[in-house]
Amino acid sequence: MITVTDLTKRYARTTAVDHISFSISKGDIVGFLGPNGAGKTTTMRMLTCFFPPTAGKATVAGFDVFEQSLEVRRRIGYLPEAPPLYLEMETIEYLRFVGRLKGLTGDRLEKRVDFVLERCAIADVKAKLLGKLSKGYRQRVGLAQAIIHNPDVLILDEPTAGLDPKQINETRDLIKSLAGDHTIILSTHILPEVEQTCERVIIINKGKLVATDSVHNLQARARGAESVLVEVGARTGEFAIPVVRARLEKITGVSRATLKEEFQNGAVFEVEASKGQLVRGDLARAIVESGWELNELRPAAMSLEEIFLQLTGTDAGAKSADTPPEEAPTPEAPEANA
Ligand SMILES: Nc1ncnc2c1ncn2[C@@H]1O[C@H](COP(=O)(O)OP(=O)(O)OP(=O)(O)O)[C@@H](O)[C@H]1O
Ligand SMILES: [Mg+2]
Repeated sequence: MITVTDLTKRYARTTAVDHISFSISKGDIVGFLGPNGAGKTTTMRMLTCFFPPTAGKATVAGFDVFEQSLEVRRRIGYLPEAPPLYLEMETIEYLRFVGRLKGLTGDRLEKRVDFVLERCAIADVKAKLLGKLSKGYRQRVGLAQAIIHNPDVLILDEPTAGLDPKQINETRDLIKSLAGDHTIILSTHILPEVEQTCERVIIINKGKLVATDSVHNLQARARGAESVLVEVGARTGEFAIPVVRARLEKITGVSRATLKEEFQNGAVFEVEASKGQLVRGDLARAIVESGWELNELRPAAMSLEEIFLQLTGTDAGAKSADTPPEEAPTPEAPEANA
């Protein structure tokens, strides 16, 4: 549905987007991640024909965003970072206005206006001036105008920015409910949101693509090797943590066992395997054969947040204690956002 090839955007001095390529299939819901100034908004603006790329190419539903922008615009709904709402217009007036701009007329227009009022839960403010709406309601009106012409593709630039937790949940549910009929790209800084809403993520940093994959694969890849959390308990009275640890580290393929938690007659270890080694079976056997209880054994998944920090190097020392020390990344000067 969307293909991006070597897409590049240069402003006077900055290369905001630097040869990025990815593709998104129909019906996908994709999280677009990156630190401030990474180039998310710039990419979205090119996809929505707001301005042309400096180099490279992007197509939406097979149409070139530069050469066939009319066709592209018809198929795209865009929620910009700061929705350009006309503050002196009533909600319903504004939606009719946008609907007409997008080619809707007569009965069809009225039907779509009613539909989005309902769908975005803004029917109760339809006669209110946009300037008098709360931030959350404005955001919903922004979403309503994005979907009014029932576009195939939705491009949402931080749809939940500035909302309270309840509104974030509502907006997230709304976006999820739209996922079936639409292909969606949404940018956000809220990583759990991506884990909950998106099947895939695209991560960019300083204009460059650093990852595009499913959340699941990213987690596996970032880990590199299998890592499991294992809870071991004492069956009889005898239970010494160093003994257990030493036993775990003796298993073939295990590179390290780290104590994560300790309680009376039991402990949790994180066991890391060397790359390419599967150790779960041997691990379970060793524990049971040593006369200990195996209370739990589960993969130690990396959170998307850890992956994000690892890939973008924006970490300022917030890594979990068990990560081997790396060179400290140079702190970046906060970028002035034009
Ligand atoms: N109109 C502009 N003129 C010059 N530079 C710009 C302009 N818009 C953006 N930039 C620069 O391009 C880079 C990418 O900005 P962009 O707004 O695309 O980032 P972003 O990923 O959306 O960031 P944020 O998370 O803060 O919204 C930044 O360095 C920014 O300063
Ligand atoms: Mg942005």
